[in-house]
This record gives sequence, structure tokens and C-alpha cells, in this order.
Amino acid sequence: MVKIQNVEITEKDILIVPCGQKHFELVKYFINKFELDNRELKAEEFLVAVSGNELLGFGRIREYADCSELCSLGIVEPYRFKHIGTELSKALINKAKSELYLVCIIPSFFERLDFSVVNEYPSALADKLSYCIGSLAVPEEYCVMKLQNA
Ligand SMILES: CC(C)(COP(=O)(O)OP(=O)(O)OC[C@H]1O[C@@H](n2cnc3c(N)ncnc32)[C@H](O)[C@@H]1OP(=O)(O)O)[C@@H](O)C(=O)NCCC(=O)NCCS
Repeated sequence: MVKIQNVEITEKDILIVPCGQKHFELVKYFINKFELDNRELKAEEFLVAVSGNELLGFGRIREYADCSELCSLGIVEPYRFKHIGTELSKALINKAKSELYLVCIIPSFFERLDFSVVNEYPSALADKLSYCIGSLAVPEEYCVMKLQNA
């Protein structure tokens, strides 16, 4: 369990914890609202940032045979830009079991966390990139990143 300190959001503590079934329904709602990867969602793959009972953010580690993937990361709008996404990402990095990759349109956010853009990656990430380009079309360009100290 990770406690974020000095976050100016509420007087209550913010905790990053495994996702229970109650929060999972809300996580699925926000994943669709934010148009994130909503395939094969499983509660046990998620960590959530909570304040009391309130869901502030969520993120997921998918495990494949030859790598791990950080995905479906989202912070509920009023709580963005308060470093919750950063702390959640760090906790997800610690949860990953093998070499960690992600697909995103915001490389500068993940570069701060030691990810770098790569041109070679496992087939699971190639599939993810195709899914993003085909099903989650955005004006920005998608890239694949890898955690460099993994
Ligand atoms: C992207 C997201 C997860 C960031 O979470 P957050 O808690 O708002 O971000 P943080 O407060 O931890 O940001 C840390 C730093 O990254 C910067 N940053 C935040 N969002 C960013 C973005 N979209 N692109 C680039 N940099 C970003 C912040 O300005 C901050 O910089 P600073 O330390 O110089 O002040 C959140 O904005 C979000 O949920 N966005 C919509 C869903 C999404 O895009 N998910 C990512 C899918 S890969």
C-alpha cells in the first residue's frame, strides 16, 4: 500500500490499493468515458487511487507470456495535475512482473517515469498499437514505450 503525502486535494489521505469489485464498476465507467482500452478488463489487474470511498484514479498492469503492459490509466477530471497519475504509475511499475511496455500519445508524461520510445517490442504490444490506431483513433500519434531500468 502506498500513501501519497502532501497532495493538496483533500484533508483525507490518498491511498493506492488493489481494485475491489465496488470500485471496479466505476473504473469501467470511466474507462469508457475516457475512451481507454476496455478489452478483457479484470479487477485484479487494477490499482486504484482512493480518498475514503471516493475513486480518484485507476490503472492496470496486463501480464503476457513475455512482457507486462501498463494501460487503462486514468485520473478523474477534478483530480488531474495533482501528481496522482504519477504516483499511480509508480505503483503500477512496482506491480509489473516482467519487462514493462505501454502504448500512449503522451510520451512526455511517461519519460519522467523512465520510459523511452522504442521501435522493437513484443507482439502483444504490436497488437495493442494496431488496436489503438484502429479503434481509439485520435489526432495525436501513438508510440510504444519501454521502462528502461526494467
Ligand atoms: C494522463 C493522466 C493519467 C495524468 O495524470 P495526472 O495525475 O493528471 O498527472 P500528474 O499530475 O501526475 O502529472 C505529472 C506531470 O505530468 C504532466 N502531465 C499531466 N498530464 C499530461 C499529459 N496529458 N501530457 C503530458 N504531460 C502531462 C503534468 O503537467 C505534470 O508536470 P509537472 O510535474 O511539471 O507539474 C490524466 O491526465 C488522465 O487521466 N488523462 C486522461 C486519460 C489518459 O490520457 N490516460 C493515459 C493513457 S496512456
